[in-house]
Amino acid sequence: MTDATLTETRNDHSDDTAAWWRQAIVYQIYPRSFADANGDGLGDIPGIVSRADYLAELGIDAVWLSPFYPSALADGGYDVADYRDVDPRLGTLADFDEMVAALHERGIRVVVDIVPNHSSDLHEWFQEALAAGRGSAARERYIFREGAGPDGDEPPTDWTAAFGGSAWERVEDGQWYLHSFAPEQPDLNWDHPEVREDFLKTLRFWSDRGVDGFRIDVAHMLTKDLSEPLPSTVELDAMPHDGNHPLHDRDDVHEIYAEWRRVFNEYDPPRTAVAEAWVSTPERRARYASAEGLGQAFNFDLLVADFDAEQFRTVITDNLAQARITGSSTTWVLSNHDVTRHATRYGLAPLNGRTGVKQGVEWVRDGGPADQLDREGGLRRAHAATLLLLGLPGSTYLYQGEELGLQEVAEIAPEQRQDPSFFRGADFDGLGRDGCRVPLPWTASGASFGFGAGDAHLPQPEWFAEYAVDVEEADPSSTLALYREALRLRRLLQTEESLEWVETGRADVLRFARPNGWQIVTNFGSEPFDLGAEADDLVLGTLVDGAVPGDSTVWLAPQGLVA
Ligand code: NOJ
Repeated sequence: MTDATLTETRNDHSDDTAAWWRQAIVYQIYPRSFADANGDGLGDIPGIVSRADYLAELGIDAVWLSPFYPSALADGGYDVADYRDVDPRLGTLADFDEMVAALHERGIRVVVDIVPNHSSDLHEWFQEALAAGRGSAARERYIFREGAGPDGDEPPTDWTAAFGGSAWERVEDGQWYLHSFAPEQPDLNWDHPEVREDFLKTLRFWSDRGVDGFRIDVAHMLTKDLSEPLPSTVELDAMPHDGNHPLHDRDDVHEIYAEWRRVFNEYDPPRTAVAEAWVSTPERRARYASAEGLGQAFNFDLLVADFDAEQFRTVITDNLAQARITGSSTTWVLSNHDVTRHATRYGLAPLNGRTGVKQGVEWVRDGGPADQLDREGGLRRAHAATLLLLGLPGSTYLYQGEELGLQEVAEIAPEQRQDPSFFRGADFDGLGRDGCRVPLPWTASGASFGFGAGDAHLPQPEWFAEYAVDVEEADPSSTLALYREALRLRRLLQTEESLEWVETGRADVLRFARPNGWQIVTNFGSEPFDLGAEADDLVLGTLVDGAVPGDSTVWLAPQGLVA
């Protein structure tokens, strides 16, 4: 490849094409825990503006904001009371506009979260449905049913909600409504034309304000076949996930996304969307990534994998093959606001036979015993996995705090916890997801480690000081310095969306080459992996005597590529 072609393929901030998202680095902000400008303990939109330079310096292409809409915070904001406003505790629409301008000025695009499966019970539609009573048109926008049993005082089915307990909640007049998550999150009825219309309005509302893309919450759950008789849980579990399952990943959900795509394409450049779709196979996931639909779908396969060469190789190969079929680009994620941070997951030995995310959950559930966690090893492996990810074709999603190497916070007292899955006894996430949502440490000293002037809404442990931004900015060997350097080099090295595996003769060492000669070598084992003369091509990472040490990744590039 000549220097001229290389320049053209560089994914720099001036690249304003419709395809900006294909190999973008998207940084997830959990707004209530990012930066608190008004000192009330909750992060806010002006807080994000105040850190715009930090984001620019990190070298990301876009931010994705988890919900910042008015909400009673029954599920950290995923219970939206008004889809077209800002939570007054987080700011105003004017603040939002200012944030978009500040980020755009710095070449950072903005992706917002759309939560269409359910609203908050405080949404005006739900309040209207409660007041209007059974049989009313207002109840049609949600999923109300009569109860079972002679007096209708049993839930219509035995279905359980994702956060634990029944998926049905009874209202005063005796009817029940469906909530796939917390009771404060009633499921919307996507057969209702007003529901469909209203979301189109929401998409236009934010697109008109300059938002570049959308992350779609539980994109696979919107449409449902609720014809009577409703199946039991045992019957549901026995049904195939072939597009006709009554509750999940139905083929007809794509009619909605085709309509959304038409709206996205009204804009220049077209708005992008990424589906959060937990579906049974990569083939089913591909439907969400179709160019006639949302265009891209999260691939959580590495997030649930172990730090293991074979698992990584299989996941990478399968997802790149899927991307070739759909024409979309794949997404890579190791951490987000729903899972134990990967620096912690990788520092745990298998617990009770559980590995990956489940082992992290189990550790949190046991109160995070310090003697079970190898922090240093976890962080080393996290660096190795992240550098591998950043070398892959496709887009990578980073979660706030991972650039500091933050570990999961297990030491949160029950009365300080907020996650509904903790209170409702859901099995899937132990003590819940609060441990990865603790407000960021910006400074080693001062109120709430520089997060804001007041106490942070979730308690920050003392050891957060070690990970503070000001500490890491002063240390060239910090995780922050590594992320900055990796993102800077990635920009220079970016090339076409493909890779070729290079044989290493070692089952625990992965090596691949990108079309321009950029190579990524990850040693998942403990024995050093010798590079011979190629050691001279090192551009990122550390070699010891010309070899890649265990639990680490290096990048190699032919002379001149990053000069
Ligand atoms: C997925 C989101 O990532 C999670 O945080 C939320 O609790 C559920 N969807 C329900 O909205």
